[in-house]
Amino acid sequence: MRTGSADGAVVVATWEFGKVCVQAAVAALEKGGTALDAVEQAAWVAEEDGSNASVGYGGNPNSDGVVQVDAAIMWGADHGAGSVAALEGVLHPVSVARRVMEQSSHVMLVGEGARKFAVAQGFEQVELLTPEARERWKKWKKEQGATENHDTIGVVALDGDGNLAASCSTSGAGFKHPGRVGDSPIIGSGLYVDGEVGAAAATGQGEDIMRHCACYAVVAHMARGLAPDEACLETLRYMAQRDPRGADIAIGIVAVDKQGRYAGAGMRKGFPYACGTAGEIQVIQGVWVKEK
Ligand code: GLY
Repeated sequence: MRTGSADGAVVVATWEFGKVCVQAAVAALEKGGTALDAVEQAAWVAEEDGSNASVGYGGNPNSDGVVQVDAAIMWGADHGAGSVAALEGVLHPVSVARRVMEQSSHVMLVGEGARKFAVAQGFEQVELLTPEARERWKKWKKEQGATENHDTIGVVALDGDGNLAASCSTSGAGFKHPGRVGDSPIIGSGLYVDGEVGAAAATGQGEDIMRHCACYAVVAHMARGLAPDEACLETLRYMAQRDPRGADIAIGIVAVDKQGRYAGAGMRKGFPYACGTAGEIQVIQGVWVKEK
């Protein structure tokens, strides 16, 4: 478990590809943005990266060959939350989620309703399916394979004013059933923030994360005094005890607390996460429950 920079601002994101996302988030903080701006900007980087097959533009499509994305954002200062699920044709679903939080009386919009809301809010309609992703889908269709593994971008941040925020964005399980929604847009599952305690965001098989409300559990453990690394491990151990597959479910969680302590933890060894403070951005191996 680690501690952030002297001014207390810290951003943590899932996976090695989270490093460039954290860079964008730290830049947003340095320009005077809040933790909310930071987690939104972090997600943008993954969402517009066409080489990332798990998030936004370039993400793997569903079994119909359509990219449907899920995203959410949460802001500790007023316990605000917004999310979108099975959304089509918007480059930055995390920003639509932020508009749901800030410009509507709702928390979650799905499918065509989410798309109509995005259009009404002025979001441009774009094609998220890249030629490369289309080729992957055609190959999958020919071979009739299973759904594919996927690596969600999940981000947590604490800003210099002590505000906490989290975001998630994903194209979900590759070649999923149309309309399938994972954990990422589900408040308490893919992410959770308590402005007085801490924030958590998850990556992994959404169905497994959702059944355990994983991020709510992490924050609840921090609320009763556990440091972020122990809070993540306690949650993962509990999931492994309850699940018939034990520790063989693939899940990673990042967390930060109000004191600026942060951690990443995977069910298995080998979950890298990115962390940034004003002075330093690095990729760190998370702690784990099961060695192999
Ligand atoms: N963790 C993202 C998903 O399962 O869709």
